[in-house]
Amino acid sequence: MPKLITGNYSYEVYQSLDSLSKIDQELLLEAKKALINAYAPYSNFKVGAAVLFEDGKIITGNNQENAAYPSGLCAERVAIFYASSQYPDKKIIAIAVSVKSKNQIINTPVPPCGACRQALAEYEIKFDSPIRLIMAGEDGEVFISPSVSNLLPLLFSSKNLV
Ligand code: THU
Repeated sequence: MPKLITGNYSYEVYQSLDSLSKIDQELLLEAKKALINAYAPYSNFKVGAAVLFEDGKIITGNNQENAAYPSGLCAERVAIFYASSQYPDKKIIAIAVSVKSKNQIINTPVPPCGACRQALAEYEIKFDSPIRLIMAGEDGEVFISPSVSNLLPLLFSSKNLV
């Protein structure tokens, strides 16, 4: 019989933005502001992301699409790559993500895609510190994961790269 490895993951569910801590509310509001400048003419699905550094500084990004569809990039990666390119030594402690669609009001939080989880997890490993992930729709509940790797079991990391 093979050995069976199991795991579990958890995230918090808040009823609305109002139930969050002040700093989480602020970060989410920055993500909501950031999505206004998203370039999403193909999907009409605008995503904003706000990265919080340990010293309280916040930087933002949004999704950038392209006529050659796979050449575009998600908001989370635009934001985290911008964060790391401008402030490589600042520890990242949280990222908030918000969305808005032209098609309908989104009342459920949108979790980051697998590629973004992989990209975000890199910085948890780099700084040996969890990045809280705050996810929201336009309205309704807000999900908070205590870390990114919590949502990415058996992730590939530099430890595998020998
Ligand atoms: N998108 C993000 O920016 N973040 C996500 O977590 C999921 C998807 C973008 C990519 C594309 O521009 C649009 O949303 C539709 O997939």
